[in-house]
Amino acid sequence: MNKNIFEFPIRYSAVIGKIAIGWGVYETVADECKMAGIKKALITTTGLKRTGIVDEINQILTGSGIATEIFNKVTPNPKDHEIMAAYEVFKNTGCDGVVSVGGGSSHDCGKGLRAVAANDGKNILDMFVYVDPPWMETIKNHKPVNIPQIAVNTTAGTGAESTVGAAIVNSQAPAKGLVILPGLGATSALIDPLLVRQMPQDVAASTGFDALCHAFESFIARTHSHYNMGIQYRAMKLVAENLREFTYNRMNHTACENMCWAENMGSVGIGFSGGVGMVHGLGHGLTVLYGVPHGFASAVVTLPVERYNQSACPEKFAEMAQAMGADTRGLTAVQASDKWFDEMERLLADLNIKTGHLKEQFGLQEKDLDHIVKWQYERDFCREGNPRDYNYDDCIQLLNDML
Ligand SMILES: [Fe+2]
Repeated sequence: MNKNIFEFPIRYSAVIGKIAIGWGVYETVADECKMAGIKKALITTTGLKRTGIVDEINQILTGSGIATEIFNKVTPNPKDHEIMAAYEVFKNTGCDGVVSVGGGSSHDCGKGLRAVAANDGKNILDMFVYVDPPWMETIKNHKPVNIPQIAVNTTAGTGAESTVGAAIVNSQAPAKGLVILPGLGATSALIDPLLVRQMPQDVAASTGFDALCHAFESFIARTHSHYNMGIQYRAMKLVAENLREFTYNRMNHTACENMCWAENMGSVGIGFSGGVGMVHGLGHGLTVLYGVPHGFASAVVTLPVERYNQSACPEKFAEMAQAMGADTRGLTAVQASDKWFDEMERLLADLNIKTGHLKEQFGLQEKDLDHIVKWQYERDFCREGNPRDYNYDDCIQLLNDML
């Protein structure tokens, strides 16, 4: 007897830590460490050169009696061996907590090393989860994480300061994967516009678009929930109204603060049963093989992928068009869904991001399509929530059309 009621009968929400958003909140980093019981913190970071942020965080901590060590060798899209190197420093210097300073790379490095430390030095590659075998079974093979982490955010953004998973590159595959364990999310996330406004213009554009991707991909996902859709509707509106201004003038205080909210809401919405879809899935392939920044990789594939998805849920695209500011009065759901594409095309053009042209923009080679699609289609988490069915050939076709 087929007992499947429907595809995703139960929706789960993530257990997220404290979130603090506002001007000057980074100055509370030592208080957060003390509340979490951290006496010696490993600061994980890419270095954030020429900003002075890491030095200042370090001074606040040491000035408040919290000893520190710094691991500043994290690179964008952190690799498994970087996580293991950070863990060695954590263990050998007697740290009992993490302060991650930066964007997604720094936070996910901190989460990854905590997963390793909680599991007695087990290689991070042995803790990756996939849709097959089922991730909820894999998680039971590892110990939960009880080492605290304070995430000081400097981008807007990946939202990694408030997600329960760590996105890490398996350098042997190579492919991007996910580690999820109970307790892995940061204990506290501090999102401070004073730090976020120091991003360069191109980073502001691509990371801001990443926040939007989290919002629209989880809104249309099969795994969506009412929590998720409520949060993401507002996140999309905030991005549509603020990302242009923030990209071209990070000192615009209102736009900066609103993007801080949007990026965090985007990630919280993913955790409230939304997930992401094929945009992130194919984007991961471009990121790993060609070093394309995460948000930028998602942005360049957004329009073709969502044209593919449009017919599976036009009413949701219509609602998203409204969130982006389009006037959809008097239109059918299908007509209104086209307005979302109009809004997105305009936003991408305003951010100077060109869709497709993957050969010209990144040197994509036909020989790599099979690798990208195999990992995306067979194992990647992003497959689960995509609103429209697809198979290996559909993915190849999509990428071919974007060459
Ligand atoms: Fe993302």
